Amino acid sequence: MNTETITLIEQRKSCRAFKKEEVSKEVLDQLKYLTLRAPSAGNMELYSIIEVTDNKIKEELAEICDNQKMIANAPIVWVFLADNNKWEKYFTYSSSEEKFNKPRRATGLGDMHLCMQDAIIASQNAVIAAEALGLGSCFIGDIIENYERLQKLLSLPSHAIPAAMLIMGYPLNEKKSDAITPRPDTASAIFMENGYKDLTKEDIYSEYKKHQAYFEGKKLMPIENGTVADYYYNRKYTSSFMDEMNRSAKTFIDRWINEQ
Ligand SMILES: Cc1cc2nc3c(=O)[nH]c(=O)nc-3n(C[C@H](O)[C@H](O)[C@H](O)COP(=O)(O)O)c2cc1C
Repeated sequence: MNTETITLIEQRKSCRAFKKEEVSKEVLDQLKYLTLRAPSAGNMELYSIIEVTDNKIKEELAEICDNQKMIANAPIVWVFLADNNKWEKYFTYSSSEEKFNKPRRATGLGDMHLCMQDAIIASQNAVIAAEALGLGSCFIGDIIENYERLQKLLSLPSHAIPAAMLIMGYPLNEKKSDAITPRPDTASAIFMENGYKDLTKEDIYSEYKKHQAYFEGKKLMPIENGTVADYYYNRKYTSSFMDEMNRSAKTFIDRWINEQ
């Protein structure tokens, strides 16, 4: 048993404030190497990672991503793209179509999903690798907002679309004493045996009881006797940023399908 890995996974928490300290080339190279050790469909690496080093681009990304200023201050900013474009180019360079006399087909949503899986799996590898290298990290879900601006900013072709974003660097405050965020108990939640089980009220209240206690402890409830559902409904589900995510994601998915 590798207890160090178990502790690393168990103790990891998102980091949103970074030291100014630069990450050395050796550490960065190791981080890249370990990120690419992620499994990928057919070992095709159906993803690309844009490493943003230009401060102006970081600042614009911060704006695009719901004005999260910490993005502009992060030493490492990686945008993970679900990327079928490079394989389409590779097929062309290799004249694969002509060699087999099999006409090119349209790139579809199955292709998109596989590319997404590859990109997101690689991003989580980066999270664990960063942790092992002493770096903190945080995903930025808002990278799927404002697609038109992002597309221009990073010159994205129609078959290379945003999948995930990570900011990384040395943690500013070693908050080792801070509790890790709660998760449901594996015995009562998330895992379903041999088929989908629609959750009863009791099931879901039980699944989120640790979150409930955490939110109450931090006095985050928007209303008296509120639930975790109330918190997310008010803060996230009905927010303008979720409307924007849905609009923007539809735009890049439509473009993926329609611009062949
Ligand atoms: C897909 C995804 C998107 C996220 N987006 C953001 C974000 O935009 N801003 C942020 O501060 N944290 C973001 N997070 C971090 C989560 O808030 C965090 O993972 C969660 O609260 C659990 O905390 P932990 O990572 O410390 O265990 C995101 C995490 C994921 C997986």
